[in-house]
Amino acid sequence: METTTILEDNVDSWETLIFLYNSALKEVGTKLEILNDEFVHVHKYNPIEYIKSRIKSPESICKKLKRNGHDTSLDNMVQYVNDIAGIRIVCSFTSDIYRMAEMIGKQNDLTVLSVKDYIKHPKQSGYKSYHMLVSVPIFLSDRVVETKVEIQIRTIAMDFWASLEHKIYYKFEGHAPEYISRDLRECSDIVSMMDAKMLQLNEAILKAKQEQSEQE
Ligand code: GTP
Ligand code: MG
Repeated sequence: METTTILEDNVDSWETLIFLYNSALKEVGTKLEILNDEFVHVHKYNPIEYIKSRIKSPESICKKLKRNGHDTSLDNMVQYVNDIAGIRIVCSFTSDIYRMAEMIGKQNDLTVLSVKDYIKHPKQSGYKSYHMLVSVPIFLSDRVVETKVEIQIRTIAMDFWASLEHKIYYKFEGHAPEYISRDLRECSDIVSMMDAKMLQLNEAILKAKQEQSEQE
């Protein structure tokens, strides 16, 4: 069967496009669930706390295109808006994020188009997350269409910060007073400290448990 990208394929309507992105979310969502279940099965441990997915609203897509100086057309949407289909994986510990990213990268039928590590290199705002842009083949009756999905991987603490920062900052439409931006960055540092502490506690518990079982 012929494989195409959405663009070459000349998607003729908004409905077809949204159908493809919804299918891509289902495909990637199922893959992630299987990876998590396998982890529970083998290691008795679940790296994923929860998963959220969404399709970007038509208003947000148009706003983003305009902001970046593009006309609103289906082709431009596909080419320039990478997060029409978005999945957020919320993990327990920072180490789980890299474990998930590695497992995703190894899936043969997913193509990793780009990676942005805002944990090693946080944004100016204090934002931390691990972003992967992947493409997944959608098998239709007569063709295969490669479709993009943005995956954001973060800890519960990073998710807490990002959700509240978005709520607070949104009110200022990007022009918050300097002291607010500074306080938000400070909160982001506190979040990192908590993540590091929780990881350390978890490792200490695992080690203590292992030593205990070796003595028995
Ligand atoms: P947009 O930020 O979506 O215009 O795209 P980009 O190409 O700059 O990608 P980037 O990877 O920087 O950000 C993509 C997504 O990450 C955003 O849509 C948000 O969900 C999230 N994000 C990025 N920066 C921030 C931030 O400072 N605060 C919060 N709360 N979320 C952010
Ligand atoms: Mg976005």
